[in-house]
Amino acid sequence: MNVALELAHITKRFDATEILHGVDLSIRQGERHALIGPNGAGKSTLFDLISGRVKATSGVIKLKGVDVTGVPAHRLGRVGLARSFQSTSLFTGLTVFDNIRCAVLGSRSALFRDRWVRSASIDRDVECVLDSTGLSTRRDELAASLSYAEQRALDLGIALSTGADVLLLDEPTAGMNRAEAARALALIRETTQSKTLLIVEHDMEAVFALADRISVLVQGRIIATGTPADIAADPAVRSAYLGETP
Ligand SMILES: Nc1ncnc2c1ncn2[C@@H]1O[C@H](COP(=O)(O)OP(=O)(O)OP(=O)(O)O)[C@@H](O)[C@H]1O
Ligand SMILES: [Mg+2]
Repeated sequence: MNVALELAHITKRFDATEILHGVDLSIRQGERHALIGPNGAGKSTLFDLISGRVKATSGVIKLKGVDVTGVPAHRLGRVGLARSFQSTSLFTGLTVFDNIRCAVLGSRSALFRDRWVRSASIDRDVECVLDSTGLSTRRDELAASLSYAEQRALDLGIALSTGADVLLLDEPTAGMNRAEAARALALIRETTQSKTLLIVEHDMEAVFALADRISVLVQGRIIATGTPADIAADPAVRSAYLGETP
C-alpha cells in the first residue's frame, strides 16, 4: 500500500495556545479521505500546514515519501499537491478560459522551466479542464459574473489544472444549496478519480457517500480513523462529535 501523504506528530501553536496536539495521519494513494470534526477542531489549520501556508511547530509532513515539512505553498505544486481555495484564488477580471490557462501555464513553467511549451498543447489541457468541470459553455464569461457554485467549480478546475495528484478541498460545498452541493460533490467524485483526495466537509451525508475513509479531529486530536461504517459505529466519535450535531 502506497502512502500519498503522511503526517507524524504534528503540533501547531499560535502564541501560547496549542491548536494541534501531535496529529498522526496517513492518506493512501488514490483514496478519498474525509477529515471531519466540530467547528474550531483545527481542520483548516491542518490544511494550512499541509499546503505550506503555515509552518508546523513540530512534526513531519511527507508527500509521496518526500519530506515537505516547511516547504512553502508555491513549491508544493511541483511535488504534486494542490489545494482549492474559496473564490479568492480566481482572477475575477479574466474569463473562465484565461483563469484556467493561467493555472496550466503556471504549472508548466514550474515543470519545464526554460523550455518552450507549444501553446496548442496548453490550450488542449485547458479544454480538457473546461470539459471535466462542466464550464465549457461559460468559457468566455468573466469569472466575476459566474454564480457562486460555478466559481467553486472554476476553483476546482484551477486545482486540477496544476496536474497535481493529491488534492486538498476545504469545505467545497460551503454556501451552496442542496442541489448545488449535490452537483459539486458529483463533480468532485468524477474529477478526482485516480487522484488522492483529502476533503473537509460538514455535510455528513456527503462525507459518508464520498469517502473511502474518514478521520475525526476533535480539539486538535485525531480520535478515530476508519471506513464510514467504522466511524458511524465508533462510540467515541458518536459522543464527541456526531452526537453533537443538531
Ligand atoms: N492564525 C491564527 N492565530 C490564532 N489562532 C488561530 C489562527 N488560526 C486558527 N486559530 C484557532 O485555531 C482553532 C482551530 O481553527 P480552525 O480554523 O483550524 O478550525 P476548523 O476545524 O477548520 O473549524 P471550522 O469547522 O469552523 O472551519 C480555532 O480556535 C481558531 O481560533
Ligand atoms: Mg475550517
